[in-house]
Amino acid sequence: MSAPEASQGRVAVITGAGRGIGRAVALVLARAGYSLCLAARSRDELEETRSQSGLSHERALIVLVDLATEDAPDLLIGAALDCYGRIDVLINNAGWAPPRTPLLKMRPVDVDRMIAVNLRAPIALTRLAAAAMTAQGAGTIVNVASTAASKAPSGEAVYAATKAALIAFTRAAFHEMRLSGLKLSVIVPGLVDTALIPNNKRLARAAMLSTADVAHAVMQIVNSPAGACPVEVMLEPQLDPERPR
Ligand SMILES: NC(=O)c1ccc[n+]([C@@H]2O[C@H](COP(=O)([O-])OP(=O)(O)OC[C@H]3O[C@@H](n4cnc5c(N)ncnc54)[C@H](OP(=O)(O)O)[C@@H]3O)[C@@H](O)[C@H]2O)c1
Repeated sequence: MSAPEASQGRVAVITGAGRGIGRAVALVLARAGYSLCLAARSRDELEETRSQSGLSHERALIVLVDLATEDAPDLLIGAALDCYGRIDVLINNAGWAPPRTPLLKMRPVDVDRMIAVNLRAPIALTRLAAAAMTAQGAGTIVNVASTAASKAPSGEAVYAATKAALIAFTRAAFHEMRLSGLKLSVIVPGLVDTALIPNNKRLARAAMLSTADVAHAVMQIVNSPAGACPVEVMLEPQLDPERPR
């Protein structure tokens, strides 16, 4: 059976699917035969992802949610289950950081938003999706962290802390999920060439990872047998773009 046939009738929920890594992941999952639930705040960007996927509206549901709000995870998983009746893959990709800001100048509202979007929402979504997947007997959840967790430059302390916590959460929950027949993994990319990374003369965009690189790693996890699912996949760019040249 080819990959698209094997995925027929399967459903993937992708947060932050409107651009960058999330869009690339959504497009490879669509090519593999999945129906999609695309989540973010910007309707136009999600519609562009749906259009690029070539899927009909019936097979690519758009859910507008601000994952900083407490009820967003329930709304999103509820919408996916109402539409499709199952969830096979959850990609916790949405993430946010303000421009680099010294800790003492960081606004409390931005600290709260990073914790909510980068950590609280993926934990809540993992719990909700895992409940549905356990009833189905299988499912895959992939969290998207960052190498900033261990080597963030100054000005990114809170972002680094949220991503380190997401890695710790994944490692700790991995075995629990496996006992329920589910796969849980975290991808830890270095710099990826997306709009999240500001243009800066010290950063060579060509040396960064591409969104396709990250999407490829996601698909390896999605397609891995349960016993061979890695708990963590680290992706390094070609060069350390922070190194002065
Ligand atoms: N780019 C990198 O170098 C890099 C490296 C390592 C890890 N990562 C991680 O990879 C993930 C994706 O990053 P990216 O570079 O693709 O970023 P991006 O291009 O800025 O895309 C982020 C996506 O997340 C959505 N999003 C942001 N805040 C949201 C919120 N409050 N509620 C719902 N959706 C929200 C955005 O849509 P809306 O704005 O429309 O809501 C957008 O679709 C993030 O978790 C990021 O931390 C990125």
